[in-house]
Amino acid sequence: MSKLLVTGATGELGSLTVDALLKRIDPEQVVALVRDPAKAARMAEQGVDVRRGDYFDLDSLIRAFQGVDKILLVSTVAFTNRITQHLNVIEAAKAAGVKHIVYTSIQRKPGSTLEISMITQSDEATEEALIDSGLSYTILRNSLYLDVLPFMLGSDVLERGVRMTKGDGRAVIVARSDLAEANAVVLTQSGHENRTYTLGASESVSFADIAAELSRISGKLVAFIEVSAEELAERVEAAGLPRPAADFISEWSNAVSTGEFAEITKELEGLIGHEPVSYKTFLRRAYEAYATSRH
Ligand SMILES: NC(=O)c1ccc[n+]([C@@H]2O[C@H](COP(=O)([O-])OP(=O)(O)OC[C@H]3O[C@@H](n4cnc5c(N)ncnc54)[C@H](OP(=O)(O)O)[C@@H]3O)[C@@H](O)[C@H]2O)c1
Repeated sequence: MSKLLVTGATGELGSLTVDALLKRIDPEQVVALVRDPAKAARMAEQGVDVRRGDYFDLDSLIRAFQGVDKILLVSTVAFTNRITQHLNVIEAAKAAGVKHIVYTSIQRKPGSTLEISMITQSDEATEEALIDSGLSYTILRNSLYLDVLPFMLGSDVLERGVRMTKGDGRAVIVARSDLAEANAVVLTQSGHENRTYTLGASESVSFADIAAELSRISGKLVAFIEVSAEELAERVEAAGLPRPAADFISEWSNAVSTGEFAEITKELEGLIGHEPVSYKTFLRRAYEAYATSRH
């Protein structure tokens, strides 16, 4: 019986991937790598094989990967040493006899040299290490998550408008739930060995489009107000986030503006067999409580 392991299984993308796997295969085939098994009690009750491991602890990974055929390596969090953690997973996989690693990387504009701090360099280094590892690999270059949009736009977006960097950049912003489904497809099917996919929504959207859609949902004008990267970071910091987090949001906004996430590949739609959640559907769900309270 082949075993498929998901790292970051108590995180957002990892837990959605475990749920998507449980719709396709028996729970005994699903291994969840977690730092804190107490957070994975629901999965254990469902019959998932919950194993403890920390990316910084190579031995814990080698133990957790025993008997596993394929691993989904969910890229680890920013503001940490991502390269060390990812390389440990690759090394442990080789030591434990794992055959195939699927890695969640970031979408980039073909030929782009733009760097997003703490993300693009470590993702590129991980992709290279995977390709050189001798293991089978699949690289999933994910677009910006729709799910993080409300956080990027700020809690006062309906009152103060969409204040982001230049408005003509477009992005195929994508729901985590669709990416999780794609993860499950790639893990459970053969034919994805040594392939790289760019996964985003099937249509692209600008911040100006988002403002227009928020206006429709809320029933009042939500303007798009173009700000510089510096002004954006200052606004986010003034709203209470630490400066490094504010700068991070500003960098992601700039990446949208410069078209880093603009390419429409439809590879996600091809993998999951249906249209991904659109930004309009996502925004309606996310802001519908506000809309309902006004009518
Ligand atoms: N494309 C985008 O827009 C976008 C947005 C946000 C994030 N991302 C990337 O996508 C990844 C998944 O996103 P997400 O929303 O699912 O993030 P998340 O909810 O923060 O999940 C991250 C997972 O990584 C685990 N982790 C962190 N450090 C670890 C370590 N040392 N050893 C083992 N596990 C560790 C966490 O474990 P615990 O549950 O124990 O904390 C958590 O399960 C992120 O980590 C980030 O690289 C992309």
